[in-house]
Amino acid sequence: MFSVRISVLGTGYLGATHAAALARWGHIVSGVDVDPHRVDLLSRGVAPFHEPGFADLLREGVASGRLTFSTDVAAVDGADVHFLCVGTPQLDGADGADLSALWAAVEALAPELGRDALVVGKSTVPVGTAALLQERIDDLTPPNHGVEVAWNPEFLREGHAVEDSLRPDRLVLGTASDAAEARLRAVYCRLLADGVPVVRTDLQTAELAKASANVMLASRISVVNVLAQVCEAANADIGRLTEILGLDSRIGPQYLSPGIGFGGGCLPKDLRAFSSRAGELGVDTAAQLLGAVDDVNTYQRQRTVDLATRLLDGRPRGRRVAALGAAFKADSDDIRDSPALSVATSLAAVGARVRVHDPEAGRHLSGRSDLETRDTVESACDGAELTLVLTEWAQFAALDPVALGSVVARRVVVDGRLVLDPHRWTRAGWTVHALGRGDPWPPADTARRAG
Ligand code: UDX
Repeated sequence: MFSVRISVLGTGYLGATHAAALARWGHIVSGVDVDPHRVDLLSRGVAPFHEPGFADLLREGVASGRLTFSTDVAAVDGADVHFLCVGTPQLDGADGADLSALWAAVEALAPELGRDALVVGKSTVPVGTAALLQERIDDLTPPNHGVEVAWNPEFLREGHAVEDSLRPDRLVLGTASDAAEARLRAVYCRLLADGVPVVRTDLQTAELAKASANVMLASRISVVNVLAQVCEAANADIGRLTEILGLDSRIGPQYLSPGIGFGGGCLPKDLRAFSSRAGELGVDTAAQLLGAVDDVNTYQRQRTVDLATRLLDGRPRGRRVAALGAAFKADSDDIRDSPALSVATSLAAVGARVRVHDPEAGRHLSGRSDLETRDTVESACDGAELTLVLTEWAQFAALDPVALGSVVARRVVVDGRLVLDPHRWTRAGWTVHALGRGDPWPPADTARRAG
């Protein structure tokens, strides 16, 4: 098989998964990261984060000898293709992206770059960054060294990172030359043989592709959540409404789940960075539209806190609340900008005694004095006057409301992700509340039919 020598700078969710996927395809891969602990774990084949299927892929790569990790950038020596996968978080106190890790990586990498190396950006960046990167690399490398920058955005979702890397929906190759495109095609020859659609484009369009996808997705969730607000006001049912919308082939059923809104390390910051960059480019309508998307999203968290407070008779102080979920989404242990954690923290801040259970993210909460963590759903719910389902874990959707009903003090649940079967829970004696349905639920006529 055709094998390329590759380096990957930055081994977070994106970089580590990408590096392991490249090794699976037969390439020789050096992962470089500034975090010695992370490098130590990865080198021993131990996954530093929860990601289904990643541990096996990592172990396979390390055992094959094709996948190594180091804190020393000199380890990239001999590689022809270098992927930049470092984080680009939100700036402190501003909406734009903080590119300091990207520039630091390039400064460190430049002296190691061989003649005609290809530097491929994968991180999410403001449009125009690739051109600046090319200028900077030209400055840092000898004249006529021939290093070229390309952009190859990734679209992987946490919780599906392995699947999204090995079987992506599409490959975007942003290149300024045919030679760069040919080299990227060699890196991805396995995916091309599998028929994954490829779009070759310029650097700017490739840079925009990732942020634009996240802008579309974030907007879609906020639209659904506005529909949920209207449903609630009109005593309609957002669950049935999204079912109907999803059957329209132009809309489709995916990414239509209402609830406490989006969070995580990508959607919120990419939305703001896109809006900020659009403003710099003189496109003010982006801020108008996307500011509203962001506001609706934040409001859903507040509305959940308001609903919980109301269900505690407006007196949350000292009341026992079970929060099921802390991760920003299911199948992930990531708590960055987590709506679940935001709701739990807000209730604790007004004096509620909040016990949190999350199948994977609980370990990240140790040391917090405002929240108690519990290893099981039952212990989190023991004596609770209010139960909140805040992350869409499958095991929460499958909970037995009869059994759980015997441990709580009051059978009152807020379904923050619309994952519970309200008929089942109501039959077990629970009062079920959710954003996006008339309250109380079920409406009188539905109750008659269900009964
Ligand atoms: C996202 C993009 O999907 C991915 O393509 C990109 O590479 C990185 O950002 P990720 O952050 O892993 O991926 O999570 P995603 O599955 O998109 O969910 C983001 C948030 O939206 C979560 O908090 C999730 O719970 C919420 N969400 C998602 C909803 O509220 N409703 C939905 O219908 C879908």
